[in-house]
Amino acid sequence: MSFPSDRPRRLRSSPAMRRLVAETHVQPSQLVLPMFVAEGRTEVRPIASMPGVVQHTRDSARRVYAEAAELGLGGVMLFGLPERKDAVGSGALDPDGILNVALADARAEVGDDLLVMADLCLDEFTDHGHCGVLDSRGRVDNDATVEIYAQMGVVQAEAGAHVVGPSGMMDGQVGAIRAALDDAGHDETVILAYAAKYSSAFYGPFREAVDSSLQGDRKTYQQDPANGREAIRETLLDIEEGADIVMVKPALSYLDLIADVRAAVDVPVAAYNISGELAMVEAAAANGWIDRDRAIDEIIISIRRAGADIVLTYWAAELATRLRR
Ligand code: PBG
Repeated sequence: MSFPSDRPRRLRSSPAMRRLVAETHVQPSQLVLPMFVAEGRTEVRPIASMPGVVQHTRDSARRVYAEAAELGLGGVMLFGLPERKDAVGSGALDPDGILNVALADARAEVGDDLLVMADLCLDEFTDHGHCGVLDSRGRVDNDATVEIYAQMGVVQAEAGAHVVGPSGMMDGQVGAIRAALDDAGHDETVILAYAAKYSSAFYGPFREAVDSSLQGDRKTYQQDPANGREAIRETLLDIEEGADIVMVKPALSYLDLIADVRAAVDVPVAAYNISGELAMVEAAAANGWIDRDRAIDEIIISIRRAGADIVLTYWAAELATRLRR
């Protein structure tokens, strides 16, 4: 009789053994919770395509900031939903605009116990739904948009953001924001750059989450899913321009690029487990087709295993609660 000389199964033989040899771990401090805060509302509204995720009022959001701090999450990433949108996204620069007041609320609630992060982009604020302002021919105007982003960064830092997250994929945005922050005395404000951000079908539910009116697509500024090498180019440019943390987005269809970026840079790498990635799991689980909690655990551990130090996920609070038990 011949026996296998190697028996890898030995290390899988019990929960205790599997725990001992687990290479990858998830901790609450590595998770960031994205949140939507709506202006002028008194009631929380569910987002149908994102089960479990809501459009918050300022008050309901306040309770979640406190809970996130208590759970030891890494941070919250805030998105604002203004009552009125216009062509240039004025609400984004208004210190009394929803995102800026929500940042101030969060900071007042948690101080420095939890990192308060701001999505730095115009799409929630423009009536056409693009991430920037349009030129006379209806194209997204890179340089004019970058000037607004730079002002936005300062307004967000002044409101209380520890971290700003430029997500519009305009060329030169990180450098312009860094310079504006430094000029205004905000040299401590961290830039988490959405460095490699792909034009993805998986953002679908996010459009509902922010009541987006976007016609068309973002293919002239977000990357083509066919192109991987460009993820490195975009990331290195952002680091040169001053990004402190770089992000790959979405996460699941781009695990290869999370690994490539991790290998290419020496700054922290984040990945965003986005709306459509949540929707797929919740929809399948609602049908009884997959084990929801196991699927979520597997997704987050896979994103970490690919190389992400930080994971933005709508399941952050739930995961932290589960990890605690
Ligand atoms: C842009 C932004 C988007 C998301 C985060 N920041 C939308 C987009 O680029 O189309 C998507 C997040 C998600 O889908 O969960 N402000």
